[in-house]
Amino acid sequence: MVMFKIIRVETTPFEGQKPGTSGLRKKVKVFIQPHYLQNFVQATFNALGADRVKGATLVVSGDGRYYSKDAIQIITKMAAANGVRRVWIGQNGLLSTPAVSAVVRERVGADGSKATGAFILTASHNPGGPHEDFGIKYNMENGGPAPEGITNKIYENTTTLKDYLIAEGLPDVDISTTGVSSFEGPEGKFDVDVFDSTSDYLKLLKSIFDFPSIQKLLSSPNFSFCYDALHGVAGVHAKRIFVAELGANESSLVNCVPKEDFGGGHPDPNLTYAKELVARMGLSTTHSEPNPPEFGAAADGDGDRNMILGKRFFVTPSDSVAIIAANAVQAIPYFSGGLKGVARSMPTSAALDVVAKHLNLKFFEVPTGWKFFGNLMDAGMCSICGEESFGTGSDHIREKDGIWAVLAWLSILAYKNKDNLGGGNLVTVEDIVRQHWATYGRHYYTRYDYENVDVGAAKELMAHLVKLQSSLDEVNKIIKGIHSDSDVSSVVHADEFEYKDPVDGSVSKHQGIRYLFEDGSRLVFRLSGTGSEGATIRLYIEQYEKDSSKIGRDSQEALAPLVEVALKLSKMQEYTGRSAPTVIT
Ligand code: G6P
Ligand code: ZN
Repeated sequence: MVMFKIIRVETTPFEGQKPGTSGLRKKVKVFIQPHYLQNFVQATFNALGADRVKGATLVVSGDGRYYSKDAIQIITKMAAANGVRRVWIGQNGLLSTPAVSAVVRERVGADGSKATGAFILTASHNPGGPHEDFGIKYNMENGGPAPEGITNKIYENTTTLKDYLIAEGLPDVDISTTGVSSFEGPEGKFDVDVFDSTSDYLKLLKSIFDFPSIQKLLSSPNFSFCYDALHGVAGVHAKRIFVAELGANESSLVNCVPKEDFGGGHPDPNLTYAKELVARMGLSTTHSEPNPPEFGAAADGDGDRNMILGKRFFVTPSDSVAIIAANAVQAIPYFSGGLKGVARSMPTSAALDVVAKHLNLKFFEVPTGWKFFGNLMDAGMCSICGEESFGTGSDHIREKDGIWAVLAWLSILAYKNKDNLGGGNLVTVEDIVRQHWATYGRHYYTRYDYENVDVGAAKELMAHLVKLQSSLDEVNKIIKGIHSDSDVSSVVHADEFEYKDPVDGSVSKHQGIRYLFEDGSRLVFRLSGTGSEGATIRLYIEQYEKDSSKIGRDSQEALAPLVEVALKLSKMQEYTGRSAPTVIT
């Protein structure tokens, strides 16, 4: 057996190693500086403490972006030196973020071991490659991101770190072949287990959904399907789940071979970045597609986000979670006993609220960030949740889950079409959404993103909006000055969103600036917490329409008066110098 030694390497702190809940994200050129990754990993081990590190079983994998392979070898050697007992690596280092969460919660090693935590190597939907982003985050034994107490400790440690431990004499592991390799160190045995990336995740999904009924839908001659992984890690899972298990045609997969640079693209599933899928689905303004598939979906780099499309039809993420919640009990076996509760992030539209009210479900509005859902789920208070930022999921894991969302939609389609398969007219994605609007009303919704804005200017704009909140008379005067007619109602309340976690009592302040209108419309302004350059201002615009004769309008057209109000109130162009947003979804 190969014997390794533990060596202590002297180092000095790097500035700016503060992880958010989505981990530490920086340009690759920052990460590849000598000791940079090592410092962060040692700071994490030190923050976790010997209890959680000695004898631990750690998952190490990610979305396969550039620098992942080197990072996996470094982390493995440091884990060995810090007394970790086993490292589990998905084949080729590939596991989507939801698959990591599933593996941590569900996988049992050949020797009966269970994972105690995970390093996920991803910068999510940010581009990858030598000149783009890399990222690392730590997830706990519940399969969810480390809480702030731990991430703060990690950061503190990075500011004082003097040395780190690494194994010497431990060879690089071959991560392309499954199997267990055993090594011997001064503190005993150390195993590296390279395992199939999809098996455990698939097993969990099979216990949630009715695979045979989805298979029937996918093989029906009047149904067609398309999935775009944007060259992220979801492609690996998609091949196995949609093609091998559910019988979809191989040609229905687009960009499903993971690439270190995501093919040069921006692996974010929205109408701007998922260009190929958008064209295939007949939604491109420059290309006409004669016969788009009935259903299309896309994922981000690490497979936790999703975009759902019908033939020539976009489903907003806010509608998507509401529709899944409204149909889950009938269409998805895992929920047949009822829903414990539902939740959305604050900027997400109130479509889910209306469903919760109709179905008499517990409902929570939380700040942006999946960790807030995790707390509710651990406490058994929430079954389904979603965010406007293309994240949807349930309490089967503690991350959002892109493929879960696709399977949820396919389940609803299979349920609604159980008598239509084999031929005849299908109930389409668009039919389901329109039917939902007819029952619950429609929340017209759009988001304007201003990316890479000057940080100072963005802060000034936000400060201006907060100041304006102190005089609603002034606000309503500005609105009346733009729209003397009744296109836009009056603001009745304005604040900065604050949340008290019902589980641990913690309070989160300054979670977005809200202007709430008399007719239920909302304007929300937030600064993004996930960008890596400059500031990104997000403007969320929403208007509720109950009148079924008015629910069929084009959303940009319906929202135009409210958009105008938002831009004038915020003095968007004045502060940012931008006459148009970077992305509209
Ligand atoms: C990550 C989190 C999501 C959150 C999103 C917000 O993806 O996992 O829970 O909604 O970031 O991003 P933003 O850029 O708007 O802060
Ligand atoms: Zn992601």
